[in-house]
Amino acid sequence: MRSAILGTGFYTPEKILTNFDIEKMVETTDEWITQRTGIKQRRIAADNESTSDIALKASLKAIENSDIKKEEIDYVIVATVTGDFLFPATANVLIDKLGINNIPSVDISAACSGFVYGLELADALIKSGKYNKILLVGAETFSRIVNWEDRTTCILFGDGAGAGIIGKSDEDNGILSTFNSSNGSKARLLFIEGGGSYKPFSQEVLKEKSMYVKMNGREVYKAAIETMYEAVKVSAERAQVGIERIDYFIFHQANKRIIDSIAERFNIPQEKIIINLDKYGNTSAATIPIALAEAVESGKIKKGDIIALSAMGAGFTWGGAIVKL
Ligand code: UT7
Repeated sequence: MRSAILGTGFYTPEKILTNFDIEKMVETTDEWITQRTGIKQRRIAADNESTSDIALKASLKAIENSDIKKEEIDYVIVATVTGDFLFPATANVLIDKLGINNIPSVDISAACSGFVYGLELADALIKSGKYNKILLVGAETFSRIVNWEDRTTCILFGDGAGAGIIGKSDEDNGILSTFNSSNGSKARLLFIEGGGSYKPFSQEVLKEKSMYVKMNGREVYKAAIETMYEAVKVSAERAQVGIERIDYFIFHQANKRIIDSIAERFNIPQEKIIINLDKYGNTSAATIPIALAEAVESGKIKKGDIIALSAMGAGFTWGGAIVKL
């Protein structure tokens, strides 16, 4: 038995913050950001919008597009590192907002790899026979955890949510393979140091601003190319699908140059690569489900297409999947 993505949905907040807007906030230029990353603008959640709110909107669309009733959902996974609260899980908040309490709901903390981590777990839960319809969401409000005075990070991120319903496959479609991995020795290259048990929130944390994202961009950049390349290679091998048979590639949308490097190594033509980072920036765990849902909605990705997913994020974590829609 196989599991499949039955339907997808996405939501991005209304407020647009362009590179020109950021020029007025830190010492940077539209030209630098565009050339180094490919990002032109990003969405920013409204003050009264938290991660569970945007997750809810993406979830409702995924439910509608899957032709299921929300009551059929028997497990909810939210991939996020920007949850509503330190605890409990944003998935708990989400099931209440959806009106589907009394089912298991849990968050995954795998940063930008959160959706592909969730997909591997959802796939296994469906195959176990214990659950039938899993709501998997990638939702982030990075605008709340970046230091808007740090030009090396604040230009990169945006807010948004994407969701999918994972259920049994009745046809020859489905999740053909998954691959997840991680390396904890790299934890300090992309992290938030303050506000956790290691360095509890204090005046010192506030003063040094260690409650915000800190990143060694160059190290993350190099690792992203290697790990996202590996994620596609291993996922394709596991699915016994040649790279040339893959119709579309959805890489984590962090930097256009990273995606171009991997595409060059595999010799993937540009038209097979889904890019939306110019519009939304890096929405961490939400980039892949937003890109997938948007490409399906626009009619670019169609039923029967074979898609490769590949992500890398803090941890370091990385992973991929081959999915036939
Ligand atoms: O989602 C998880 C995965 N995250 C990522 O994949 C992000 C990976 N990293 C990157 O995408 C890139 O490393 C960045 C886009 C963050 C930076 O690009 P880079 O080409 O690696 O630049 P750099 O950090 O080496 O900095 C080059 C120069 C520096 O100046 P000096 O030292 O050469 O004088 C920086 O101070 O650019 C300067 N710089 C900026 N200048 C204008 C750094 N940020 C900015 C900025 N505007 N926003």
